[in-house]
Amino acid sequence: GKDKELIRDSWESLGKNKVPHGIVMFTRLFELDPALLSLFNYKTNCGVVPECLSSPEFLEHVTKVMLVIDAAVNHLDDLDSLEDFLLNLGRKHQAIGVKTQSFAVVGEALLYMLQCSLGTGYTAALRQAWLNLYAIVAAAMTRGWAK
Ligand code: HEM
Repeated sequence: GKDKELIRDSWESLGKNKVPHGIVMFTRLFELDPALLSLFNYKTNCGVVPECLSSPEFLEHVTKVMLVIDAAVNHLDDLDSLEDFLLNLGRKHQAIGVKTQSFAVVGEALLYMLQCSLGTGYTAALRQAWLNLYAIVAAAMTRGWAK
């Protein structure tokens, strides 16, 4: 329906530039919760956000997150097919020490990035459509986390 159309249309150009948009998202994430930075114990040993965000491992994780969102957008008609992948992903983040509440903060950062990128295209309906989609992703990760 309308929600899927809003999501597909808005992701069309964003999805082609995953890294720059992902950086906006993660910059916002670390603003909202700087403590998340310490969960990335890559050997880069970076203390400040801008340094971290330009390290190759960080950019890879940014890309990984954007690819999960990309997969969700590409499977709007059969999100169930991502269930096993998302359960497993949630379990991995549990092992890393990420709390399930942090998944919601990522959602806020995602909305922030959409707002920045879409400008006047960021409508209440679009915001709600993305909230709903991300909630499905985060809920599956949370189920996997708790398993
Ligand atoms: C892996 C941290 C949220 C997708 C990882 C790793 C870390 C990490 C440290 C392992 C190292 C690496 O692969 O780079 C975090 C933190 C998050 C977060 C602190 C904050 C809440 C997310 C979210 C998604 C995601 C929301 C997707 C929607 C992935 C993927 C991997 C990964 C796909 C690779 C898993 C694999 O190796 O199979 N994450 N992550 N992450 N993360 Fe996250």
